[in-house]
Amino acid sequence: MWRGLASGMGLLLGVNIDHVATLRQARYALLPDSPNAEPCVVQAAQEAKAGGADSITVHVRGDRRHMQDADVFRVKAECDLPLNLELGITEEMMDLAFRLKPDFACLVPETREEVTTEGGLAVCALSGTVREAVKRLKGAGIKVSLFIDPILADVEEAARSGAEMIELHTGAFANAADPTEELARLAAAAELGHKLGLQVNAGHGINYRNLPVLLKTPFLAELNIGHSIVSRAMTVGMRQAVAEMAVGMKGYGA
Ligand code: PXP
Repeated sequence: MWRGLASGMGLLLGVNIDHVATLRQARYALLPDSPNAEPCVVQAAQEAKAGGADSITVHVRGDRRHMQDADVFRVKAECDLPLNLELGITEEMMDLAFRLKPDFACLVPETREEVTTEGGLAVCALSGTVREAVKRLKGAGIKVSLFIDPILADVEEAARSGAEMIELHTGAFANAADPTEELARLAAAAELGHKLGLQVNAGHGINYRNLPVLLKTPFLAELNIGHSIVSRAMTVGMRQAVAEMAVGMKGYGA
């Protein structure tokens, strides 16, 4: 039985606030500096912190559909939590990362058409590109995570790439009518990642309902959760929505 985390810090909660910006962009895409532009991403980050978030995640996409460059600089300056920047491997985003200097960078695949990040990074097929990006980001003092599907060959390549962390894609788990098989894949990938010395995180599609089931996965260090928390915040507020998720994560690994 998996008994706790080496860090002794419990399972950490990274709150992805992209969809706060999605809502603002629905009306203020052309007027981002208007005094009427709302909701405010900085306030959302601060409220997430007050609710118990351990870090804030933001994804600046190539099409700037939600987070704008100025948003992430403001969040970094005005919210005193570690910042995790999700980015596709493009020169434009690498340059943003070097200027922003987030605490963590999570490399994700990105295509323009997808509604959200649909699959893990193809780390084997793109090994040269991924290894080079990892090296450059680490050289800038940024800790690197790779968002991958729970595939053993991908975990092995992630370890070879020099990345310190993997984030296991939990989308297939979240969408499965019966999650048994997906849970087994996640457990095997987490176990291998841990054995290879990687910090194992997980994210995508995690919600208040499927969280207790996901927590059967061993060796998890951090969950990154966005959509469900931001949705719940509509009725109870960001602080309470984050606090409820944090309560659900308590006792992991005990
Ligand atoms: N982790 C990664 C790498 C993601 O791309 C996303 C979605 O932006 C998340 C976590 C959060 O997923 P969700 O919004 O479904 O909680």
